[in-house]
Amino acid sequence: DKKLRIAIDGPASAGKSTVAKILASDLNYIYCDTGAMYRVLTLQALRHDVDVEDESKLVALLKDTDITFEPDGNQQKVFLNGENVTTDIRQPDVTNAVSAVSAHKGVREELVRRQQVIAEAGGIVMDGRDIGTAVLPDAEVKIFLVASAKERAERRYKENISKGIETPLEVLQKEIEDRDYKDSHREVSPLVQADDAVLLDTTSLSIDEVVGRMKEIIQKLI
Ligand code: C5P
Repeated sequence: DKKLRIAIDGPASAGKSTVAKILASDLNYIYCDTGAMYRVLTLQALRHDVDVEDESKLVALLKDTDITFEPDGNQQKVFLNGENVTTDIRQPDVTNAVSAVSAHKGVREELVRRQQVIAEAGGIVMDGRDIGTAVLPDAEVKIFLVASAKERAERRYKENISKGIETPLEVLQKEIEDRDYKDSHREVSPLVQADDAVLLDTTSLSIDEVVGRMKEIIQKLI
């Protein structure tokens, strides 16, 4: 079997990582969460008091930032210079600063380069904002996942409650919309559906249904 590259893009909290992980495990592929890489650099910036607008300082910080992943059952652990930061990178302070960090050209060049190395051998499911457009423009499969902002906020709300994070639903919806706006309006590789990506609206679909639809899309394409 050919080892495919599967690119999954879409707005915040559309369920990309949840379904990408399942798909990767079903296909026996690698899963790469590129958003986690931008989050790790953001955590570093917050810890080192680096201004999220200061591109050259962020690029310098990134040079000393080793980012690695390790499987953890159905989940994945994320390490920053060997330290497990899986929980830290999901905290609201990181989430609300990450779009500023990811907007810089120099930051994107370096992280895209690292992502391309990870994807080199194929057999990978990679999710993010610019995978189909910039990281893997030749990916065999490109899927653009969307869902209504209301439903995305509700999903994030439930997920947060299960982790003990209590943010009101309206605040979450506003944060999601703000992040989408910033990600879609930045100059360098903004969030946009690739011309050859298949659009999949997951509003009111279950996780299993989304994974099923994705497998149908893959079957049709190969
Ligand atoms: O996917 P996740 O919500 O964890 O991504 C966090 C942030 O990282 C996004 O809001 C976006 O600013 C940035 N990102 C990006 N390009 C990617 C993946 C994530 O700019 N490929």
